[in-house]
Amino acid sequence: MPVGSTRNPLRVAIIGSGPSGFYAAEHILGQDDINVQVDMFDRLPTPFGLVRAGVAPDHPKIKSVTRVYDKIAQNPDFRFRGNVEFGTDLEYEDLLEYFHAVIFCVGARSDRRLGIPREYLPGSHGASDFVGWYNASPDQRNLTFDFSGDNVVVVGNGNVAMDVARVLMLPPDELSATDIGGHALRALSQNKVRQVTILGRRGPAQAAFTYRELKELADRDDIDVVVDPADMVLDPHSLHDTEQAPDRGRDQVLDLLRELSERPSRGHDRRIAFRFLVSPVEIVGKDRVTGVEVVRNELYRGNNGELRARATDEREVIPADVVFRAIGYQGVALPGVPFDPITATIPNDRGRVIDPLTGQARPGEYVAGWIKRGPNGIIGTNKPDAQETVEALVEDVRDQRLRREVLPAPVFERFLAERQGEVVSFDDWKYLDAREVEKGEELGRPRLKFARVENMLRTLRDRDKAAG
Ligand SMILES: Cc1cc2nc3c(=O)[nH]c(=O)nc-3n(C[C@H](O)[C@H](O)[C@H](O)COP(=O)(O)OP(=O)(O)OC[C@H]3O[C@@H](n4cnc5c(N)ncnc54)[C@H](O)[C@@H]3O)c2cc1C
Ligand SMILES: NC(=O)c1ccc[n+]([C@@H]2O[C@H](COP(=O)([O-])OP(=O)(O)OC[C@H]3O[C@@H](n4cnc5c(N)ncnc54)[C@H](OP(=O)(O)O)[C@@H]3O)[C@@H](O)[C@H]2O)c1
Repeated sequence: MPVGSTRNPLRVAIIGSGPSGFYAAEHILGQDDINVQVDMFDRLPTPFGLVRAGVAPDHPKIKSVTRVYDKIAQNPDFRFRGNVEFGTDLEYEDLLEYFHAVIFCVGARSDRRLGIPREYLPGSHGASDFVGWYNASPDQRNLTFDFSGDNVVVVGNGNVAMDVARVLMLPPDELSATDIGGHALRALSQNKVRQVTILGRRGPAQAAFTYRELKELADRDDIDVVVDPADMVLDPHSLHDTEQAPDRGRDQVLDLLRELSERPSRGHDRRIAFRFLVSPVEIVGKDRVTGVEVVRNELYRGNNGELRARATDEREVIPADVVFRAIGYQGVALPGVPFDPITATIPNDRGRVIDPLTGQARPGEYVAGWIKRGPNGIIGTNKPDAQETVEALVEDVRDQRLRREVLPAPVFERFLAERQGEVVSFDDWKYLDAREVEKGEELGRPRLKFARVENMLRTLRDRDKAAG
């Protein structure tokens, strides 16, 4: 019986329920001539990956993309199975028995490192920890951050750095109008931070943040946004590039930074300061962070034509009570699955997982999203990325490259129930979702998120008990 026929439906396991997982599910379920059943697993009881645990709480419109994912989840051939972790509850060998194909969509959970002395001194954190903490991710629920000092330094010039800086500056009434975690709302409402300094290792023309995010800061009427006019005098390489290769996004950012550099101080007691062409060389402090020593950089053109930063001899210490590294997320290896430690991604050819020893595709194994291409790109970027992967899978189905026989779905149900007694279905999630909104409404907030897995599972058990 060919795989994908009525009597031998293509059984696909998707590991991870972030944007790439949902777009992969949508595309494979949309194949008219292939009979498909999709099982999507997530280590958390809640779906949606970084849309729930990454996107800033004051950006609710962006989170509304989950409506699209809700619709995908309504497909009768789709099953969500939350609270099931690949690598512990479910292993690589299990997938081979029960599924014709697996698509790894696990994102990038860790942070890149700076590799400088005292990087892990108390007070120095990865942005992913702070972001997860304020978004009520169970992984970060028990972390604490000390915002009793005046100064925070954020290393990195991407949109995550902008999110971190902005969230630190939001006043309590604005924070409480968001779905920020209850614990984070309490802690941040007491926050004494007066200055957030954002450090770029290259110049303003190479900043990775986008115009919209910069404009959001620039338009706030309760903070000063400070740019040193000297930083806006571009070096000859950047000047050459801006003249020779117009780029609307970059030019808008440069114009706005220039405008900010000329803006007189408005006398607010809280400010965000941009510093360019500086790299941290060490974290300063004995028992906890007191500053960051930075070196001044200059730009040079690398072999590939890209402008790179190179250290000069000029150093200074920037005072800091807290330091966040917002220099990019990083993928983590999955047991039994190839991993490239240099790129921190699963090696692949247009989504087909490649065995690094043979250079050949591993039949029936695919990858999409951040763990496929690295931790870059917005939510929408994952759609064409997942489509490319699914096209490869469809090609392999048509060419009959997948294993033919897998154990039937009811056998998998029994196996999974033995491995994990509390699998969370999409209906379960919708119940938790409704409780979050309900609890939020009682407090005059849009939602109060569950931040602990045990509370989510207890809520579901209580519902089941009440139903008899
Ligand atoms: C702080 C931050 C803010 C962002 N804000 C925006 C924004 O405002 N707008 C925008 O367009 N883009 C934004 N992005 C980018 C966007 O979130 C990503 O492009 C997108 O989430 C990547 O999707 P993904 O599916 O590859 O990974 P993820 O969204 O990370 O999803 C991966 C999923 O896999 C699960 N998983 C991991 N390991 C396992 C395992 N072993 N077993 C089972 N499940 C597992 C995780 O729990 C998670 O649900 C932001 C990113 C960050 C980091
Ligand atoms: N509102 C939104 O739409 C939104 C919000 C958050 C995130 N996102 C998206 O999510 C993706 C990830 O964002 P991100 O901010 O994590 O990554 P990013 O956009 O890749 O930015 C990373 C920044 O860190 C810098 N960096 C890297 N290594 C460094 C080092 N060793 N020392 C100093 N600086 C270093 C990079 O500088 P170089 O350029 O010099 O390498 C860059 O400025 C992006 O595509 C982003 O647009 C979107």
